[in-house]
Amino acid sequence: NRKIKIAPSILAADFADFGAECRAIEAQGCDWVHVDVMDGHFVPNITFGPATCAAIRPHIKGVMDVHLMIAPVDPYIEAFAAAGADVISAHLEAGPHIHRTLQAIRGAGCKAGLAINPGTPVEALDYLLDMVDLVCVMTVNPGFGGQKFIHSQVSKVAKLRAMIGDRPVHIEIDGGVTADTAPLVAAAGADVLVAGSAVFKGGSVANSAPYGANIRAI
Ligand code: DX5
Ligand code: ZN
Repeated sequence: NRKIKIAPSILAADFADFGAECRAIEAQGCDWVHVDVMDGHFVPNITFGPATCAAIRPHIKGVMDVHLMIAPVDPYIEAFAAAGADVISAHLEAGPHIHRTLQAIRGAGCKAGLAINPGTPVEALDYLLDMVDLVCVMTVNPGFGGQKFIHSQVSKVAKLRAMIGDRPVHIEIDGGVTADTAPLVAAAGADVLVAGSAVFKGGSVANSAPYGANIRAI
């Protein structure tokens, strides 16, 4: 029985109060903090960069899980590592040299994550699984929180878990995770569940108790 980790995405938090939001979700029992970096080029939305990650870092005791939805990736890996990322995930679709990117992430002293869009088959990971600590299976098209879970990805998770075999590789699910969809991906072999709207709904920095209830409900 694999222990499931919950990684709230601060994309659904109060952008004017990230420090307090990170402290609140950790106090409410989350495992990792998921940080979504978007560039308005690889995805049609812009969030923030390494300076914001560095500012958030002292407010997170546990794992800072940085999801880069940017292209190119390689010129920015050192900056996100210096900002204190524990895990850096890059997208397979973000450039022609994902093998080099994964080497660079580990070279910078971080755990290497490989994120794949809903349209990307797991077979594309065949020659990469020994280079990663985590595969992030996108269950929405990246760019925005609050989208609907894409159910066709559940069988992808099961296939991927079989491919991973006994390697120590996490399967992270990102997008549309709720109390309804979480059991489906957990049963298929996922062990890190990112959740934005499902964690932050109904709460605020001032009243963060709903965050805890939401985390426990997932
Ligand atoms: C989407 C981001 C996700 C997003 C998840 O591009 O990578 O992390 O914030 O949000 P929800 O849980 O609301 O789908
Ligand atoms: Zn994400």
